[in-house]
Amino acid sequence: MPEEENKRLSYLDAMGVQVWQARSTREVEVVEAAAGARAHAATLAPGASASVAPTVTEAGADVDVSQLDWEALRARVQVCTQCELHQGRTQAVFGVGNRNATWMVIGEGPGVDEDRLGEPFVGRAGQLLNNMLLAIGLPREQVYIANIVKCRPPQNRDPRPEEAASCAAYLARQIALVQPQIIVAVGRVAAQNLLNTELSVGRLRGQRFSYDQSEIPVIVTYHPAYLLRSPKEKRRAWQDLLLARETLRGLGTGDS
Ligand code: URA
Repeated sequence: MPEEENKRLSYLDAMGVQVWQARSTREVEVVEAAAGARAHAATLAPGASASVAPTVTEAGADVDVSQLDWEALRARVQVCTQCELHQGRTQAVFGVGNRNATWMVIGEGPGVDEDRLGEPFVGRAGQLLNNMLLAIGLPREQVYIANIVKCRPPQNRDPRPEEAASCAAYLARQIALVQPQIIVAVGRVAAQNLLNTELSVGRLRGQRFSYDQSEIPVIVTYHPAYLLRSPKEKRRAWQDLLLARETLRGLGTGDS
């Protein structure tokens, strides 16, 4: 079997996806693909909008974050003291990836590894996220990855609402600059903040929402850290990724 195919199978395996190989043709069939496609006929739900104030005020100076370019935005985030999370950070973790990405992945906030290295999703959960993306044919470098909050919450606690609110304008600007064609929200904190809801991931996954008042679809799935603890849920996460891909194809971009 060609090496590429072997790799793809190992990523699918990491996602808990069962693969059948027909003996005659050695054609590979991903069993869940059809199920995933069938399972989700949901229409774009009226995604409740997270209204994001574009202005960040610091030391008396108003900065209209919605006008900043990439470098100014990154510089702003690095020196941000809007909430108390800045006190415990090694560095702010801005975001990484293709600034013209079709896919944007949004997580919760940096953990210890991300705080140290300055890049989102670089720890064990990040490894799994990379494999999840590769399983649908997306190298990490092809997507843009960011978090709800840019500074590590102490003891990896959930970001507080006021902390997420302080960071919201930064994320909104990142989304506006990337202009993704689809957003995948990984985990409860990302989903709840992006969709302005208190519903659980279990209730939100399997549907299509839209970001703020835009037409950018948002698909919710489990956080990879949760999947590391609950590997049985990887099947559902795989279905969510298939839903995202199907949604994108339905938009007629032809760009998976
Ligand atoms: N978990 C997240 O939500 N984001 C990261 O960057 C790392 C872990």
